[in-house]
Amino acid sequence: MGGPGKFLKENFSGNITVLKGKSILLGITGSVAAYKSIELIKRLREEEASVRVIMTGASKRFITPLSIELAAGDRVYSDMFETPLSHISLPADSDLFVIAPATANIIGKYANGIADDLLSTALLAYNGTVIIAPAMNWRMYENRAFQKGLNYLSSIGVKTVGPEQGNLACGEEGVGRMADVERIMESIITALTKQDLAGEQVLVTAGPTREYIDPIRYLSNRSSGKMGCALAKIAGRRGAEVTLICGPLSVAPPDNIDNVITVETADSMYAAVMENLPMSSIFIMSAAVADFMPVETKESKIEKKDKLQLNLVKTRDILESVGRLKNKPFTVGFAAETGYRPDRARKKLLGKDIDMIVFNDVSQKDAGFDTDTNEVVIIDRDREKKLPLMSKKDVSMAIFDRILELKDNR
Ligand code: CTP
Repeated sequence: MGGPGKFLKENFSGNITVLKGKSILLGITGSVAAYKSIELIKRLREEEASVRVIMTGASKRFITPLSIELAAGDRVYSDMFETPLSHISLPADSDLFVIAPATANIIGKYANGIADDLLSTALLAYNGTVIIAPAMNWRMYENRAFQKGLNYLSSIGVKTVGPEQGNLACGEEGVGRMADVERIMESIITALTKQDLAGEQVLVTAGPTREYIDPIRYLSNRSSGKMGCALAKIAGRRGAEVTLICGPLSVAPPDNIDNVITVETADSMYAAVMENLPMSSIFIMSAAVADFMPVETKESKIEKKDKLQLNLVKTRDILESVGRLKNKPFTVGFAAETGYRPDRARKKLLGKDIDMIVFNDVSQKDAGFDTDTNEVVIIDRDREKKLPLMSKKDVSMAIFDRILELKDNR
């Protein structure tokens, strides 16, 4: 084990993207949403996955194989008899099978074990994870015979993403639109991510709080909530049940988590944390809670004058209160400092009696407030691990890696 301040590089999985080098088999079926497959292929290739595509005859009426070939950088497969045994070799060499868009026809055939073209035959020959992104008219989607097939597929482990509510190609409105490409990407990433947080209940706080001076004005800080949202998102990807308690965020909360609770003040964040803590096995306090609040909040707007003196008092320290509890979850805090002061962070770790603290120097460019990246030192009772500048998602990966190393040896 390294001593405090040592630069440890080992066992760092933070910057490994799960899609890199993976082989995705994509089936495209005959829906107007087929054009979105081009964007999906591009996104997969951006993440360094390779994509091989099987198109059904009907899908070619919506999008040309040439467009798909250009996006995939590879030929398209379609005809059962053109390349003999492709229905066996394509699935055999794939890490994941995705059908997007998936029509009622392919879903019904798959649920009933029907194999009458290359895609349906390849599906039956595949024994890995399958993700389907249904797309159809809402009447077809709600049809009981169709739903029976869909439920059967989910009972045997097939994952479904979408469909979403919205305007449908037929001019009607309802549930049937193919899920957004980013949602499909998220379920692909989750399917290929080791579920090493399965069984954990992770409680994360994010964003700033607002302490009201009067009904219109408040004290707050520059926190965007990006770090807390990244932590919640990664915990969800790794299989945890996640509750996010957030102050007013400048970003949308992740859509792959179970529960989002919005609060405004330090007091309401305190109450929400205490309510949810007993159900949690890991607690991460990444919110930038205001340290001070006005002694009183005026009920009506304070009129303009030359000088205004505010009387402030300390807010309750949420992390410290959790630290004092006897039966607390594995508890992680953040220490935002101006300047390279891991020593101050360590003091907070010991003073608040928690298991881990993540130090970051918010005076650094590209680290801290409202950035997509962060440069942190993960500090626990045994060691300090300084990480290079990396995305907040990768920082989150590294934090959970370390939590898992420590959690069961507490
Ligand atoms: N924190 C908290 N409740 C507060 C203030 C801070 O739970 N009222 C938490 C933060 O979410 C963070 C940790 O305490 O996880 C450290 O916060 P930080 O602002 O770095 O330190 P403070 O303890 O507030 O001390 P100082 O402001 O003097 O650095």
